[in-house]
Amino acid sequence: MNDQAFTIDDHPVPFRRGESIMEAALLAGIYIPHLCFHPLLEPHGSCRLCTVEVNGKPLPACTTPAAAGLEVTNDTEALNQQRRTLLQLLFAEGNHCCPSCEKSGHCELQAMGYWLKMLDSPFPYLFPRRALDASHPAVLLDRDRCIFCERCVRASRELDGKEVFALAGRGLNTRLIVNSPSGRLGDSDLEASDHAARICPTGALLVRGEGFRTPIGKRPFDGKSLSETCLQRAAALLKEGKESER
Ligand code: FES
Repeated sequence: MNDQAFTIDDHPVPFRRGESIMEAALLAGIYIPHLCFHPLLEPHGSCRLCTVEVNGKPLPACTTPAAAGLEVTNDTEALNQQRRTLLQLLFAEGNHCCPSCEKSGHCELQAMGYWLKMLDSPFPYLFPRRALDASHPAVLLDRDRCIFCERCVRASRELDGKEVFALAGRGLNTRLIVNSPSGRLGDSDLEASDHAARICPTGALLVRGEGFRTPIGKRPFDGKSLSETCLQRAAALLKEGKESER
């Protein structure tokens, strides 16, 4: 039984106690742009792509609890312009060379660029040089493509029962570090089947040998928009979670 309802862009959205605005929206088939949120993980609230207006106040949908009577504004040009600016900053501070990246067509960052109709960036590109880690036989870590969403950090801890990843440093020196005696991925207990190895929304973590298994043109975001794919995935995962909670 749904407890009560609130509205998103004037559409009524039912919710259960404990759900966030994001969860209730996705279950109701309403897409709110997001990158650090994942239905299987505790919300993190770091990317700010999901910022909506709640009774006129900007708040992240992924960490704001749903409540009866809230009036949420989501799909407006002003909010999408703010999201586009955040996305432009993410592209400018990493090395995201989509045409040569094997994650192309599977990449949520790239798909978000298309979804928000991002054509360029007014910000200077920083072209960071962060250490690449190719020491693991099955998983490649390309830190230049990391957007610090910490999905892999949370997935390793919450889903895999390991603590393989963490963020270290501050500002421009922030980087993903690996919990192993040498600091190398190959010496960690990460396995290619771990959620952490497969949950990255960019090409920062790649499972070797899988990138070109699906030909270009048939990849998830080649035929479907990011919103369509995310709504399908989230509805399935969130519903599964709700069933198991009963
Ligand atoms: Fe809500 Fe990233 S999805 S802050």
